Amino acid sequence: MEQFIMKGGNPLVGEVTIGGAKNAALGILAAAIMTDENVVIDNLPDVRDINVMLEAIQEIGAHVDRIDRHTVKINASHIKEVSVDDEFIRKIRASYYFIGALLGKYKSAEVPLPGGCNIGSRPIDQHLKGFRALGAKVDVVRGAVVAHAIDLVGSHIYLDVVSVGATINVMMAAALAEGTTILENVAKEPHVVDVANFLNSMGANIKGAGTDVIRIRGVERLHGTEYSVIPDQIEAGTFMCAAAITRGDVMIKNVIPKHLEAISAKLLEVGCEVIEFDDAVRVVGKPKQRPTNIKTLPYPGFPTDMQPQIAVTLALAEGTSMVTESIFENRFKYVDELARMGSNIKVEGNVAVIDGVRGFTGAQVEAPDLRAGAALVIAGLAAEGYTVVDEIGYIQRGYECFEEKLQGLGAVIEKVDSEKDAKKFRLKIG
Ligand code: UD1
Repeated sequence: MEQFIMKGGNPLVGEVTIGGAKNAALGILAAAIMTDENVVIDNLPDVRDINVMLEAIQEIGAHVDRIDRHTVKINASHIKEVSVDDEFIRKIRASYYFIGALLGKYKSAEVPLPGGCNIGSRPIDQHLKGFRALGAKVDVVRGAVVAHAIDLVGSHIYLDVVSVGATINVMMAAALAEGTTILENVAKEPHVVDVANFLNSMGANIKGAGTDVIRIRGVERLHGTEYSVIPDQIEAGTFMCAAAITRGDVMIKNVIPKHLEAISAKLLEVGCEVIEFDDAVRVVGKPKQRPTNIKTLPYPGFPTDMQPQIAVTLALAEGTSMVTESIFENRFKYVDELARMGSNIKVEGNVAVIDGVRGFTGAQVEAPDLRAGAALVIAGLAAEGYTVVDEIGYIQRGYECFEEKLQGLGAVIEKVDSEKDAKKFRLKIG
């Protein structure tokens, strides 16, 4: 079983380069099957979720050529199946994007219903509402979403909750519907805009992505394209918090600083220096950091995917912070693990009250999910002594070469897969 083992206490110093955005890439890969022509996608992160998505695309009959580690060519002219295997949907929820993509292109899709996940219940009622409004007949049969349409017809759709997944999914289907769709109360996340830009580069006519209302004029067909995925806002934010919590000084390169504003604002409140450049941001931590309050909200609010990383940072500030999680109900599972390192956090409902402590001490902890796992790693880098993080498969779903990038900043961390290797690491480091 692979683990990260680290010896904390070194401030992280240096430069790190951020990869492509996983959550944008998942939508883009699904949308890539909506044309019969070649699509080349660059700046894909080499992480597990993306690789599973690529396997799923191959499984339904499209050709996937890996041009290099971060570039693929997809040709979906040979798709034989509008039905996606259960195995993939269980591994990554984002394979629900196949519903919108297949329904748009073939007017037919059969995709197993994604189950719950460890950050809380994740309904897809708004996705289904959107497909129905476009004229599809959508049923849930033996655990799968079965959607068919004779014709998809543009419609006026108001989403009841702001959902990234529903916005992207319905936008994909509407791109190949007849007439105009107006989608209201949509998500404005950078990855929504990126998927819209990608579809437009294939000939779609989508306007307003990044605002509350998206207008989609359906086109008859989409064509091939070459596209580069935007940088990952959450990977960047994680390194920003790693700099802050270790009182380091890190230049985070290949980012879009505008996408990081909510995180930068909070780190400034905490007392860090945050310096923005055109495509980089430098974070300098301070010995004494202040508490602050945070509430996760849809973009441009503070991202739920950064909640654990900022919470561990606040757990080493001087004073009491409150963190309110308003997107997913089960995102505080790292709190018990962090307590083993000496933190003082009480959770009531969707609020964590964090009393800052002077320092953490290393411990053996378990990653409960992707972002919480990354948060425990950066906590370990700020802790005195050795920390072991188990269940790092979660972390590898979303961070490419996490330990190598941290090592590049001076972190003493290694990935090991046996007790023997962990012992060797301790002997080597002393
Ligand atoms: C969420 C994040 C997104 C992040 C992703 C991965 C927000 C708004 N979205 O997106 O930034 O990249 O997790 O961790 O922070 N909901 C419904 N019905 C639906 C769909 C969603 O009630 O049909 C609810 C969800 O339960 C949740 C909220 O809407 O409370 C947001 O869901 P959604 O944006 O779809 O989640 P993700 O797309 O997974």
